[in-house]
Amino acid sequence: MADWNPALYTRFEDERTRPAAELLARVPLDAPRLAVDLGCGPGNSTALIAARFPDAAVIGLDTSPAMLESARARLPGLAFALADAATWIPERTPDLIYANAVLQWLPDHASLLPRLFGLLAPGGVLAVQMPDNLAEPTHRLMREVAADGPWAAAIGDPAVAGRLGRVLEPSAYYDLLAPLAAEVDVWRTAYHHRMADAAAIVDWVSATGLRPFLDPLDPEHRAGFLDAYARAIDGAYPPRSDGRRLLGFPRVFIVARRAP
Ligand SMILES: C[S@@+](CC[C@H](N)C(=O)[O-])C[C@H]1O[C@@H](n2cnc3c(N)ncnc32)[C@H](O)[C@@H]1O
Repeated sequence: MADWNPALYTRFEDERTRPAAELLARVPLDAPRLAVDLGCGPGNSTALIAARFPDAAVIGLDTSPAMLESARARLPGLAFALADAATWIPERTPDLIYANAVLQWLPDHASLLPRLFGLLAPGGVLAVQMPDNLAEPTHRLMREVAADGPWAAAIGDPAVAGRLGRVLEPSAYYDLLAPLAAEVDVWRTAYHHRMADAAAIVDWVSATGLRPFLDPLDPEHRAGFLDAYARAIDGAYPPRSDGRRLLGFPRVFIVARRAP
């Protein structure tokens, strides 16, 4: 896939950072020595961690050079490095592994989450938030539009292009981590983000879940796909009483603490 676009991603930074803050608020740590922001993106989540734990060493890791460059420009005093959450092994044992809106891009959660949890220091915390929106109109319509147009062959199987973002039930994460942890807290929240118009919803997902659909397309098919998708979104998210659109957005949260 092409690299991420930090400018497009940060266009909705307030909305995207709200779950990051709500996840961090539930982390039961007072003074971690080392906190790792896995999939740090443009550093918005890393800034929250550094503000809450000013005495901690905070490291942001990401697979995107563009995102790392943006994070370094935002937080020049912190360390950022290229690393893949699927294979990352820390040089120093972290007290906090925090992953906001990243692990949905990785497969095989049944082994990934226990592996990450196993990297923690005694008493350490794994904190994870993931969008759970594959059944939402935004994502259902990506797959439907992908299957029905001259761009279909280039995109291939819409179920494959749209498979990123598949998360398990909260209870499944509980079952995976409870035997390993002293405490596990799981919850699912549906946000309803106020969006100016249907185009803003398209812009929102263009920076994230729409990328596997758009990346294989030439400019002409990309424009056609986006046009058809925007019309479908306009119908699926009708104007509310003030003319705005409400973007329903379910998210799963997991906070698991190791025994001291
Ligand atoms: C939706 S952004 C989240 C950014 C930030 N954590 C936040 O709270 O808004 C997802 C980030 O995860 C990164 N990412 C995707 N796959 C990754 C992987 N396997 N390992 C590390 N980072 C990854 C992307 O490059 C992107 O910057």
